[in-house]
Amino acid sequence: MYYPDDLIEEIRIRSDIVDIISGYVKLQKQGSSYFGLCPFHNEKSPSFSVSPGKQMYYCFGCGEGGNVFTFLMRYENDTFPEAVSILAQRAGVELPEVEYTAEEKKNNDLKAMILQVNKEAAKFFFHQLKSGSDKSGYEYFKGRGLTDETMVKFGLGYSLKYSDSLYRYLKEKGYNDEVLKETGLIKYSEKGVYDAFWNRVMYPIMDNNNRVIGFGGRVLGDGKPKYINSQETKVFDKSRNLYGLNFARITRRPDFIICEGYMDVIALHQAGFNNAVAALGTAFTSQHAALIKRYTDNVLLTFDSDGAGVKAALRAIPILRNAGLSIKVINMKPYKDPDEFIKNLGTDEFEKRIDTAENAFLYEIRMLQKEYDIKDPDGRTRFYNETAKKLLAFSDEIERNVYLDSVCDEFMIPKESMEKLVYKQSLTYSGEKNEVLQTDSERINKESLKDEGMKQSQKILLTWLIEDDRIYPKIADIISENDFIDSFYHKVAEMLFEQLRTGNLNPAGILSRFESEEEQRKAAGLFHASLSGNMSPQEKEKALNETIQKVKKNSLDYAGRNASDVNTLQWIIKEQARLQNMHVLLD
Ligand code: UTP
Ligand code: MN
Repeated sequence: MYYPDDLIEEIRIRSDIVDIISGYVKLQKQGSSYFGLCPFHNEKSPSFSVSPGKQMYYCFGCGEGGNVFTFLMRYENDTFPEAVSILAQRAGVELPEVEYTAEEKKNNDLKAMILQVNKEAAKFFFHQLKSGSDKSGYEYFKGRGLTDETMVKFGLGYSLKYSDSLYRYLKEKGYNDEVLKETGLIKYSEKGVYDAFWNRVMYPIMDNNNRVIGFGGRVLGDGKPKYINSQETKVFDKSRNLYGLNFARITRRPDFIICEGYMDVIALHQAGFNNAVAALGTAFTSQHAALIKRYTDNVLLTFDSDGAGVKAALRAIPILRNAGLSIKVINMKPYKDPDEFIKNLGTDEFEKRIDTAENAFLYEIRMLQKEYDIKDPDGRTRFYNETAKKLLAFSDEIERNVYLDSVCDEFMIPKESMEKLVYKQSLTYSGEKNEVLQTDSERINKESLKDEGMKQSQKILLTWLIEDDRIYPKIADIISENDFIDSFYHKVAEMLFEQLRTGNLNPAGILSRFESEEEQRKAAGLFHASLSGNMSPQEKEKALNETIQKVKKNSLDYAGRNASDVNTLQWIIKEQARLQNMHVLLD
């Protein structure tokens, strides 16, 4: 679904960013900006800034940034069209009717119907739990230590002993079999029609908008299967949802706790750990990991401490790591899962286990060690080799060395031998891996530092260009978008210089031209270089000139390296001379 750029711009202009964000974050004016506590990471002193001039927000603590649309997308987890439609409504801008094909319309209607039936069913189960004549579900939850408040919060319920009470209830409400079949709540077979869930305590599964998308149901006793879960439907995709995410997504804790079961999530939330989530009766997938990464960079694993739990943890760790999450593993011994742990040792003890959680890599190596007889030289050698292989998976040399150090310390492995082993292993790996090991780390380091410095100068220049309108006219014949070499910086600079040339400065508008949230955030970062606060006019002039020199010199060097004809080289030499004699005066 696409709206025209003009319309998006109109909605953005009519939605003042300070107004909008004030509805979510307490802001205080400070100079030309507003500051508040960042809603995207946990902090005690405000580093989240909202600039009415730029119509952008940016957090100097965590690097989150964007315009009004990105804010809603990040905060409310809206899609771009959703954010546009919310702000349009608020600003009184009419959106064109979206044209759906007959097929799309049918599909949307069906989805809406399934959600409606799910909600009815959740209400039915919830009602039965406490107000029905059969109290066994309620007693069961009470017996497991859940408070009434928790049962309400999670909308827990009970499906009756009869195998068709939900079916009869929904039919009475007027839903037809075609729809009911699609919800997965009712099963149709030659033998007849019956409820998918009966005589079970019920856990409705909610999405981020608190809509019921499916259910889990547990037997009251020891029957099998212990849990059954809704089949996947048009509204229920197990790999894209996590149990508890609707609550965890607004936690102020710095991490997510990932556990295995419904009861674990509920027990943790009841104990105040409102950052707990679980996969829904399926293995952990990369989609789950990506979903989590939208909210946090850190996860704590509390998988069951039995064999199956360890196996599940060892499977999940690489998946989470690939998503860029930093992972720790909570030790729950002597209990099986967080639910039992909290029931027996309480909240404070669990908090202590969080503080002493083990780095996931060390956990992996510790589990690996268990497979070998370390006392036997052969076993030890094989363990060392496997460890070296695992270390090799870190492509970043600095990171690899850090892990090499701690693994050697932890498992008392001689460092030198491990270094040699890693090197040896690398030779048997692909060319790409070899390169990582054989390049001179110092050189890489220097290059990347220089690169970072260059990028910082370019950011400062872009930030100044939008913050101080004296600057553009003075540098217009020196600097252009072509001096920003990195393709992303170039794209942003191109749009900004176009605005400056035509006198329509509007940096927030630039963000909407990028499609992904990631790019929008990155672009916002370019307009928020941290400038040393109170510079005197002289200092600022000096800094500006140094920055221009750096950016221009870099771009001429680059042009020089790529020049293939004499004319270009002559031009570069002339420009270099001009640069040497150039000094921009502010005022
Ligand atoms: P557990 O058996 O560890 O569940 O399975 P639990 O939450 O600790 O169960 P309680 O405490 O005995 O009530 C972990 C998760 O695996 C899925 C469920 O999502 C469960 O929460 N599971 C388990 C199933 O889908 N089916 C099953 O038969 C068992
Ligand atoms: Mn359990």
